Amino acid sequence: MGEFATGVTVVTSLDAGRPVGFTCQSVVSLSLEPPLVALAPAKSSTSWPRMAEAGHFCVNVLSERQEEVGRRFAVSGGDKFPGIAWRKEVTGAPVLDGALAWVDCDLELVHDAGDHEIVIGRVRGVGLGPESGLPLLYYRSGYRRLEPDPSR
Ligand SMILES: Cc1cc2nc3c(=O)[nH]c(=O)nc-3n(C[C@H](O)[C@H](O)[C@H](O)COP(=O)(O)O)c2cc1C
Repeated sequence: MGEFATGVTVVTSLDAGRPVGFTCQSVVSLSLEPPLVALAPAKSSTSWPRMAEAGHFCVNVLSERQEEVGRRFAVSGGDKFPGIAWRKEVTGAPVLDGALAWVDCDLELVHDAGDHEIVIGRVRGVGLGPESGLPLLYYRSGYRRLEPDPSR
């Protein structure tokens, strides 16, 4: 699957008022009617059980300028938010400043899947960041960027 290039997101939530999050590439646009997304947290994730308890999460799509954010949220545990600006939108899960797009969800269903879980979220709100930009990518275990397309 290292040959499968993806974008990079940070999935966030609020656990008893405390922001939590982890870097996540296993994100799928699942259904338009009703609007559903899916993601796959590892059972080893320390953030995910707190998000499941909260019952909502936000998928933040990282821009190419946010590699350091992707790296920071890929470290397990601890407070990952010092110096990170964020706000609440619909569910209260953190929307990160600088994200290209955000998808705010209520937790709909959790399915067991080996050493991961498959999580389905019902979309409650979506938005784009104030600036358009290019996405951060992940390919062959490394962060990558798109070549700007001069025709766009
Ligand atoms: C680009 C990238 C993509 C990742 N995708 C996932 C993923 O889809 N699911 C997952 O559970 N962990 C994924 N991880 C790993 C988690 O971010 C990492 O295990 C993190 O430490 C979990 O933090 P937590 O224990 O605070 O939840 C990814 C890491 C990187 C760098």
